[in-house]
Amino acid sequence: MENKIPLMVPDIKPDDIKAVTDVLQTGMLIQGKQVALFEQDVARYLNVKHAIAISNGTATLHLALIAAGIGQGHEVIVPALSYVATANVVELVGATPVFVDIDLQTFNIDVSKIESAITPKTKAIIPVHEFGLLANMELLMPIAIKHNLIVIEDAACALAASVGCQFAGTFGTLGSFSFHPRKAITSGEGGMLITNDDALEKKLRVLRNHGIQMEDGKMQFVAAGFNYRLTDFQAALVHSQFKRLPQILAYKQTLAQAYLCALQHCKNIMLPIIPNGYYHTWQSFHIIIEGIQRDEVIMRLQDVGIGTNYGAQCIPQQKYYQYKYKLNTATLFPNALKAYQQGLVLPLYEKLSVADIQHVATALLKIVG
Ligand SMILES: Cc1ncc(COP(=O)(O)O)c(C=O)c1O
Repeated sequence: MENKIPLMVPDIKPDDIKAVTDVLQTGMLIQGKQVALFEQDVARYLNVKHAIAISNGTATLHLALIAAGIGQGHEVIVPALSYVATANVVELVGATPVFVDIDLQTFNIDVSKIESAITPKTKAIIPVHEFGLLANMELLMPIAIKHNLIVIEDAACALAASVGCQFAGTFGTLGSFSFHPRKAITSGEGGMLITNDDALEKKLRVLRNHGIQMEDGKMQFVAAGFNYRLTDFQAALVHSQFKRLPQILAYKQTLAQAYLCALQHCKNIMLPIIPNGYYHTWQSFHIIIEGIQRDEVIMRLQDVGIGTNYGAQCIPQQKYYQYKYKLNTATLFPNALKAYQQGLVLPLYEKLSVADIQHVATALLKIVG
């Protein structure tokens, strides 16, 4: 049955479409004004010195690791539960991902387990702000500082997530965002890196653009760079949505509250926890299902026209990582494995109404009991 309520549909408004067509009509599809304008607004909003737009949220992390000098012989600590890109980029630069289990209440890295994973080879930590909730950076940053580790925040799902008045992506050396269509705002494919470090910013801009640096008005190729640029029409699309980000996030709070209220008494559903002082941006409304196979729940919801999916991968459980590292995930990462096997993401986006949320919750409760 076709989904009446798909898992996600981006809300592209007439203004967003106009912003794109305006750029298309200029003929300046890349390296025009739009990327720089979007970068300036994001930097201002997050209160950081530099924002560098990149072609997607995997390229952001890849570039961040390269600019930070991480490569062969280095270890990078990553949570065992995330989208697989978080660890893939570590592999791609020739370093070794060292997995740490998550806290099952927040689905973020269990900070109490980080120190025992640090070795003399450890060079960086990539905390992930999973599903739109900030990891515990107040506890993580002192550990990173004590051990002289670079922190690259994977805030792919967490634009504007915060604790107190500090935003995701602004605690570490670098913060990384994605504008994939399942995020609050989208450019189709797209990403952004933020940093307060001037030298890193320079490096990132050079690496993003074929290693090109302007010297005395001349183009010099000073590094073996990438083409990780965002196009101008993509920047215009996501920038147009960015202008209404506060409204989008406020509406998502309303929808999340509707789920929390409707599902609160079900003993077979573990609801997400929002620690005191944290602002969850609800990129995903992720729950744990008990007492019934999660995949059966996905199929039965599909039968009644509701799209759901699992939340994130237990990365060391995936074929590539099993083949290479052969880690016993059940004993080493029981929480990540549980979230991977029993986690379920419910639809939550601007195009849905509170009545839609209640409809999904009612259908779910009929199945889960
Ligand atoms: C936590 C996390 N990191 C990285 C990425 C990769 O981002 P992208 O799909 O833009 O490459 C994603 C994907 O959505 C993600 O969820």
